[in-house]
Amino acid sequence: MNAADGARHCALWFGVPSAREQALFAAHGWRLRTVQLDCARQVGMRGNDVVIAIADLRCVVPGQLAALERTLSEYPELPMLALLDASDPADHDDPLRQRVLRGCRDTLRAPIDQARLAETLARLEPAPAPRRDIDSIGGRSPAMLGVRAMLHRYAEVDLPVLITGESGTGKELAAHALHDLSRRRDRPFVAMNCGAIAPTLVQSELFGHERGAFTGAATRRLGLFESADGGTVFLDEIGDLPLDAQTNLLRVLQEGTIERVGSSRPVHVDVRVLAATHVDLDAAIAQGRFRQDLYYRLDVLRLQLPPLRARGDDVELLAREFLDAFRTHNPVQARGFSAAARRCLREHDWPGNVRELLNRVRRAAVVAEQALIEPQDLQLGPAGAQVVALDDHRTRTERQALLDALRETGCNVSASARRLRVSRVTVYRLCRKHGVSLDEMR
Ligand SMILES: Nc1ncnc2c1ncn2[C@@H]1O[C@H](COP(=O)(O)OP(=O)(O)OP(=O)(O)O)[C@@H](O)[C@H]1O
Ligand SMILES: [Mg+2]
Repeated sequence: MNAADGARHCALWFGVPSAREQALFAAHGWRLRTVQLDCARQVGMRGNDVVIAIADLRCVVPGQLAALERTLSEYPELPMLALLDASDPADHDDPLRQRVLRGCRDTLRAPIDQARLAETLARLEPAPAPRRDIDSIGGRSPAMLGVRAMLHRYAEVDLPVLITGESGTGKELAAHALHDLSRRRDRPFVAMNCGAIAPTLVQSELFGHERGAFTGAATRRLGLFESADGGTVFLDEIGDLPLDAQTNLLRVLQEGTIERVGSSRPVHVDVRVLAATHVDLDAAIAQGRFRQDLYYRLDVLRLQLPPLRARGDDVELLAREFLDAFRTHNPVQARGFSAAARRCLREHDWPGNVRELLNRVRRAAVVAEQALIEPQDLQLGPAGAQVVALDDHRTRTERQALLDALRETGCNVSASARRLRVSRVTVYRLCRKHGVSLDEMR
């Protein structure tokens, strides 16, 4: 079922599928990935994959329901199917469960059978992603006019671009725009989040593998670079790329060739490489985690996205655009922003940048009971203090869990990763985020 542009059909299964269910999905051409209820971020997806989710509520416990609800609110566009037990009462009175069910696009009572699966999957399949061209990048501030001018200039030349900027500033959007403005626009755009894939799988994901290259490699598989041939490869969070894959990426940039895992025959590929990072690569180089020669190769052209707080009136302009766009698809009361809400929008610091603005506006549009959105709907102003406190609380809990895992495993990164059910790369990232030095702890 893979589309000509290299897109794959992936179903994220929150819970535990039976062997029969796994076989059914495979027979319909869907890759089934089992994910922990609160860890959708760890799934390595390519930018143009068709992704749906299955919420397996047959054996879910309350704590997991809460995690599932969070996932639903974080990924509002992800089409989700709820799987219920045949004996499950439809009018279950657990409010959390009701909210999860309302967030799901469809419901099926297990077991899934062959005939209904095809029909359900077709209904769930997301519409083709809208072309994310330069017009989808909103903002008229001098900073953003500069970014637009750069995008036009950079799109014309076939050199790597390193896109930098804080989280949520639109790095991925900019990568799409560079592709869509370039002569490669009718060829694939393939994205990979380097931090979201288990380090052991990165090489095969990027460069493919030959049959029998390792246990489980039953067939030859093309990697990202070969499936993007003629197009663009976008390597997100490039700072998380394991060192051995960095060496091979250097070869792609220097010689335009890749080697599949299990083969030493170079294969020519014609791709443009775009990379993004929200961390300081200089620090990663100083710590020996990132190759300096690769950095020079990637950083030929640099696109720096400004934080939202440096974009002046764009905040209000974007808030308006986000609200209008949301209103066209959702029946909500909100038509605009009160003067107080506009003041709060201007004064807020926007640590999460455009993503934070988008999420706040959507949430406000849903909860506002009047035509004008007020500061409390945006969770800004005096009531916003609670939100910050909750975020602080989450950060502290995450740090504590990390420290506990490291202590209990004698600072063994692999064992800590298993204990926290995250990848090793994530453990390193968490250490950086929370200022935890493994060397000092050892
Ligand atoms: N200038 C903009 N106009 C409209 N929408 C934007 C703009 N910039 C970003 N967005 C939206 O904000 C969200 C975050 O953007 P994106 O994913 O590109 O950020 P990012 O820099 O890659 O973030 P991260 O570092 O967390 O990966 C997306 O939904 C994107 O569509
Ligand atoms: Mg991104």
